[in-house]
Parts: sequence; structure tokens; C-alpha cells
Amino acid sequence: MNQDELKRAVGQAAADYVVAHAPQGAVLGVGTGSTANCFIDAIAPFKERFRGAVSSSEASTDRLRSHGFAILDLNDVSEIPVYVDGADEVNDRLHMVKGGGGALTREKIVAAVADTFVCIADASKLVPTLGAFPLPVEVIPMACAHVARELAKLGGDPHLRKGFITDNGNLILDVRGLSIDDPVALEAHINQIVGVVCNGLFAARGADLLLLGTPDGVRQLHPKS
Ligand code: A5P
Repeated sequence: MNQDELKRAVGQAAADYVVAHAPQGAVLGVGTGSTANCFIDAIAPFKERFRGAVSSSEASTDRLRSHGFAILDLNDVSEIPVYVDGADEVNDRLHMVKGGGGALTREKIVAAVADTFVCIADASKLVPTLGAFPLPVEVIPMACAHVARELAKLGGDPHLRKGFITDNGNLILDVRGLSIDDPVALEAHINQIVGVVCNGLFAARGADLLLLGTPDGVRQLHPKS
């Protein structure tokens, strides 16, 4: 199976999980990226079971709408039983690096409201230590140089994502070279830098379940303690 087939397999597995676990009339939380797109396509035939979806990006909103999903404003929603999203890296505690697609802030907001975060990923995303994938940090434009200097003090090598503006009108610094031994502490630390909107470490609120696409089938992994 190639990587695209693995993504389709986990997208289908996530749709099966959501149909089995989310109550009739529930609001669906939907992530962003190529794997999340596979989930959107797989859940589309079941859209009548849901009140609608809260989306984490304009791109996912467009795809959900093309399938006929109602898009809900998060401020009008008090409960999201399940949020499904991909990751750029995930470890065995189900801490993640996310934001390769630049949607990290809205993804983190929707994930914060959800009862259950289901991460879907092909086997290449499971790593022993986070950090080989550059960590995305969303910054307020006027603070970009300041935040870059502060990230360099942490040992990182920040690069502005050229030609990219987030759905929130901000910039992304992709930070290479961070050694992420304590994802919870680093997530909190980076969030304290003035001018940072959000960073792509999803550790304080990690995933509750990982559906991992492998050549032998989709494995279900729970966070190791
Ligand atoms: C989007 O901003 C990201 O957080 C994605 O969830 C992540 O980059 C995974 O994307 P792919 O499924 O395309 O690899």
C-alpha cells in the first residue's frame, strides 16, 4: 500500500469510528490536510446523521460544503463528541506536531472543545521523539522578528513560511532543530512568547486515539502513560 492508500484507509476507519460512537444529531469536529480530506470524503455518505460540522480551516470548509455538510460556527456549539484530524508527527503518548498545512490555531481551538480527539495518520508519522518535522508557530505579523529571535534562544532555527498567510491573517515560522524532549513544557513555553498566537505542539491536549495506517491494516493506539 502506498501512502495515499494508507491515508484513505485511516480516513475510512475514522468514518466508521465516528458513525459508531457519535450520537445521532451530533456536531462533527473536522481537521485539515490530506488525511483529513480522506476522512471528509469517507464520512460524506453519512452527513444526514449529523447536525453539521465545525471546521478547522477554509479549505476543509470548502470540501465539507461540496459534500453538502452544514458548517456551524463554534460559538453556536457547546459540544463536539469527536474531532478527527491528521498530524505531521505523533509519538506513543499521542502528543503531536501539527500545522504543516498552517491551520494549527483553529485545529487547536476545535480540539479543545471536543470530547475525543481521533488522530489519523499513516505509519510514517509515528516517531519516537517529536521534532524532526519543523514546528509551525503562528505569529502576529508585527512580532515576527521578535518571536524568531526568542525561538532561536531556545535552540531553534526559525524560517518564515514564504508567501503564506493563515486563515487568521497571520504568519507562520517553521522552526527546525528543536529537541522536543518535553512537549508539554515546550508547548507552554512557546505560547508565552509575546506575539505568538499558537504553536503546533498538541501535547497539553493530545489525541485520545490514534488510527494508524500500516501495510498490515489500521491499528488503534491509545496514549501510553
Ligand atoms: C494542518 O494544519 C495540519 O495540522 C495537518 O493536520 C497535518 O499537517 C497533517 O497533514 P497531512 O494529513 O496532509 O499530512
